[in-house]
Amino acid sequence: MRFFLLLIPAVVPAATYHGVVKQILDTRCVGCHRDGEIAPIKFTTYAEVKPWSKAIRQAVIRKSMPPWHADPARSIPFHNDRSLTAKEIAAITEWVDGGALEGKSDASTGVVASASTATTKPDFVARIPGIEVPPKGTIEYTFLVTPTNFDRDMWISSAEWRIDQRSVVHHINAFIRPMGSSYVRDAPPGKPFVASVQSRRAKREDEREVDRRELLLGYEPGYRPMPWGEGRAKLLPKGADIVFEIHYTANGKAVVDNSELALFFAKQPPKERVFTISPADATFAIPAGANLHSSQTGAVTKRDVTLLSMQPHMHLRGKTYSIAVRYPDGLVESLIDVPRYDFRWQTTYFLREPKRLPKNTELKCLAQFDNSRNNPANPDPKQIVHWGDQSWEEMNICFMEVTFPASDDPDVVTLLGTTRPGTATR
Ligand code: HEC
Repeated sequence: MRFFLLLIPAVVPAATYHGVVKQILDTRCVGCHRDGEIAPIKFTTYAEVKPWSKAIRQAVIRKSMPPWHADPARSIPFHNDRSLTAKEIAAITEWVDGGALEGKSDASTGVVASASTATTKPDFVARIPGIEVPPKGTIEYTFLVTPTNFDRDMWISSAEWRIDQRSVVHHINAFIRPMGSSYVRDAPPGKPFVASVQSRRAKREDEREVDRRELLLGYEPGYRPMPWGEGRAKLLPKGADIVFEIHYTANGKAVVDNSELALFFAKQPPKERVFTISPADATFAIPAGANLHSSQTGAVTKRDVTLLSMQPHMHLRGKTYSIAVRYPDGLVESLIDVPRYDFRWQTTYFLREPKRLPKNTELKCLAQFDNSRNNPANPDPKQIVHWGDQSWEEMNICFMEVTFPASDDPDVVTLLGTTRPGTATR
């Protein structure tokens, strides 16, 4: 059977670092695994990668790396999905099993695009005025209020983080605080501030969530600028402030952080307004030792809206999170399922295809907590746990960005059942 023999290649080339693996690491890992970034190990050269090859094999098989927590089988597709394809995982394991060979370097590869797209001059910048981050210890959430002082409403067509000390910035959420809002009222403008629990919870009786604050943009490691799309913008009302909630993690050496949020304004009024709704449940009491305790929240749309992104938020006892919709015709669809929630990764999931939610669609957000000793992140399984700011307390917030015609009232949803508005601070 000479015919068949001819089809068998004489030598099967082994997968090498320069042949296949570098390309995968450059696009999927190096964004975090390089100098000045959040990951403690660099993966930019063969010499850096080789000693870690077994750990890399294990991490990609276990899917602990790259960090990505949505289960693709029970979630809709996301634009910023970091997970590896089966083919990429196979290529990496094959390379490690074959001895993690270097192979020949190709001079044309090796340039890694910078995470920043800082090319155009922003219209407004909210700046962190050099916050000193200590080398060790737990750092309290820090607030920073930046007044904007525009004498009319402005439309933000895009917003972009320019993070200075990426190795210590764990996450930042920027909020728009309209004039007269009760939210962290006592924070002195321009000065880093640790807000009291009372101040973070303060809310007037009749104050609508839309008049209190709106999530403008979140930052987390691995962040890439993500435009809302043509003709869409967020409203910065006249006289509003930008409020940062900053979470630093110490990284062994003292640094001074000067991160910035750059805002770009729309040249003409947008067609659609982008708005963040934030259903929350603050009524739960998680029993001591409970290994699966549920907390539900949600909303019903008062009008047709389009969903752009979702950001589930819990703390250290967070175990699973799922968001589903029930359409007016009764059809139920799972939007996202996070089977192993990890507090350290405050991921915003951007829908690959924005989803239209007709009036009277029910959004259901289910958080499940693990307060047992089997949860390695649990600070104390003997405590009954309630809503609170600190990571040893808990939260269930279901941030979702939706769009609707720009001139319409932003009060687009009825928040559901167990929500106790006003305690929903993060
Ligand atoms: C979004 C940022 C990010 C990306 C992308 C990322 N990592 Fe990591 N990686 C980290 C951080 C942070 C750590 C430190 C440990 C931790 O926080 O989990 C880490 C730790 C590791 C470790 C050592 C600890 C462990 O879990 O075994 C390995 C190995 C690793 N990463 C491999 C990879 C590989 C391979 C890729 C790409 C396929 C990748 N990482 C992509 C952030 C990232």
